[in-house]
Amino acid sequence: MHEDTQGAGLFQRRAERLKGNLSKIRYKIAVMSGKGGVGKTTVAVNLACMLAKKGNAVGLLDADIDCPNVAQMMNIEEKFEKDDNGFIPPEKYGVKASSMSLIEMESGPTMWRGPLIHSAIMQLMELTNWDSLDYLIIDMPPGTSDAALTVMQFIGIDAVVVVTTSQELSMTDATKSAKMALGFYKPVGIVENMSGEVFGSGGGETIAGELSVPFLGRIELSKQMRDCCDRGAPAVVNNVNVKNFEVIANNLEKVLAG
Ligand SMILES: Nc1ncnc2c1ncn2[C@@H]1O[C@H](COP(=O)(O)OP(=O)(O)O)[C@@H](O)[C@H]1O
Ligand SMILES: [Mg+2]
Repeated sequence: MHEDTQGAGLFQRRAERLKGNLSKIRYKIAVMSGKGGVGKTTVAVNLACMLAKKGNAVGLLDADIDCPNVAQMMNIEEKFEKDDNGFIPPEKYGVKASSMSLIEMESGPTMWRGPLIHSAIMQLMELTNWDSLDYLIIDMPPGTSDAALTVMQFIGIDAVVVVTTSQELSMTDATKSAKMALGFYKPVGIVENMSGEVFGSGGGETIAGELSVPFLGRIELSKQMRDCCDRGAPAVVNNVNVKNFEVIANNLEKVLAG
């Protein structure tokens, strides 16, 4: 009984802290995919950089606790600075980034080692001091299980971007993610990645048509894209696929405008 009361109090304090931390963010956008490896992080990073390029204040939350790839894909080497309000996210390419991988583990919260992945995600969401942002882009945990649900529940997401390739399995799993988001009454848009001869194209439009949601745009499979990711040099800051990401960002703005 006593523990329950403590637990409820702690939960409420955490929920309030989280609400306070996110209160100066205009739009919170979750980037999801059914599967890993389809380019969720690539799209999240480049969408964030493109929105920053367009003059917005942008944050990028790496909520993929198992594979926190944001820092590597943006070539961020420093760890978090801390102040009384929590972690100060480092800024790169005009984007403030927060990730598990930016925490000095020896001084990090002990809960980090705990078995509950959603505690780790909650801590990262609570402790990052974003200040004012136009957009917070969230690189979501893959799939539709507990970790993704935690983020959907606790952050008041404004829209969901689902990334898919045109392969059948990716489309099946992306459809599942999109349906989960629609189940939370969130606007959804579809991005097709790795389009071309190897994995095919048109899958993104197919899903968008079937679910009656907007198709936001596509990115071709290319060596240039792969090289940018590998070098930690986001495509749009290196003049690769700038137009495509501009189209995706503009279409997302239209989705948000309703
Ligand atoms: N359009 C693309 N063309 C070529 N390589 C890509 C493209 N998009 C992503 N990649 C590569 O595919 C790999 C997986 O992408 P990533 O964004 O990490 O996927 P996820 O976050 O969904 O697991 C990365 O190593 C990246 O270099
Ligand atoms: Mg990823």
